[in-house]
Amino acid sequence: MKKVLSGIQPSGSLTLGNYIGAMKNFVKLQEEYECYFMVVDLHAVTVPQEPASLREQSEAVAALFIAAGIDPARSNVYLQSHVPQHAELCWLMTTLTSMGELERMTQFKDKSSGKDTVGAGLFVYPALMAADILVYNADLVPVGEDQKQHLELTRDLAGRFNHRYGEFFTIPEPYIPKVGARIMSLDDGTKKMSKSNPNAGSYIALLDPPDVIRKKISRATTDSGREVVYDPANKPEISNLMSIYAECSGLSLAEITGRYEGQMYGGFKKDLAEVVVAALEPLQERYHEIRSSGAITDILASGAERARAVASVTLQGVKDRMGFLPPRSK
Ligand code: AMP
Ligand code: TRP
Repeated sequence: MKKVLSGIQPSGSLTLGNYIGAMKNFVKLQEEYECYFMVVDLHAVTVPQEPASLREQSEAVAALFIAAGIDPARSNVYLQSHVPQHAELCWLMTTLTSMGELERMTQFKDKSSGKDTVGAGLFVYPALMAADILVYNADLVPVGEDQKQHLELTRDLAGRFNHRYGEFFTIPEPYIPKVGARIMSLDDGTKKMSKSNPNAGSYIALLDPPDVIRKKISRATTDSGREVVYDPANKPEISNLMSIYAECSGLSLAEITGRYEGQMYGGFKKDLAEVVVAALEPLQERYHEIRSSGAITDILASGAERARAVASVTLQGVKDRMGFLPPRSK
């Protein structure tokens, strides 16, 4: 069975962008693949995290995976830090990665720009992501558009290892949705919707109550003009809202265009709010049930146990090929 792996950082409340760009596909792919869905807590600490909030968010993201429809009996759901092989393989990957490659990563440039000091962890972050993927020999990696460059580096590193030490790693393919791969911020159609934006009005959190969702959508900025037409180059803001509508309703962009032809933004936004509320309500209900049931601890324990079993075999194979002597017991 082919393998799927992906991860989401527990660095704030997950947004509709995370859901549409990544999690929706996790749920779809688990039907046909052996799946590994991680809460990437080691990635989250590449920028400072409050310990109490890291603990809370780690459990919250895991619960959201399940609430979104990931079946823990079928897919492995776990915390990255519970599988030490990720960090160890990351170290080996950094030795294959050049400084120049890491300097070219646009996420690093964005996150480090204007900062007085930048942690080395933020710089080597893509090597850890490569280790995450390669340690299971994942075939497919469902992510949003912003992760494409990291995936390309992962593919290069896998190829480099194979070339130097003999065929070993599977070269993973990105799986990026056609619509919704880059959901934009509600206050600026040129920036991606992000949970780390200090303006909470710029994103819809998956756990926002219905009235908050309605308010945020009614305040979302819209392009000049008044027609509901999909034209991302010239009308990024209304096009973004239409993508959200499509992804939350299951309608195509053409159907939405037809439905709102000749109408103004106001009515469209009102309907959009109801579509988003209806899409998130069942997820929110399941989320609260899962959190209060206390089931997450066991789910994470068995997910990590299965993940460690696979990861340790790959890591040993890597170390053998690179020339590390195996440990011997006396
Ligand atoms: P992160 O929150 O950075 O850990 O991202 C987790 C996953 O969600 C990654 O696959 C991202 O590409 C995806 N993602 C994050 N923000 C967005 C967005 N605004 N639109 C689409 N996908 C996104
Ligand atoms: N870097 C990804 C993000 O910020 C999260 C991530 C870490 C990931 N490891 C991964 C995604 C492995 C896919 C596969 O969105």
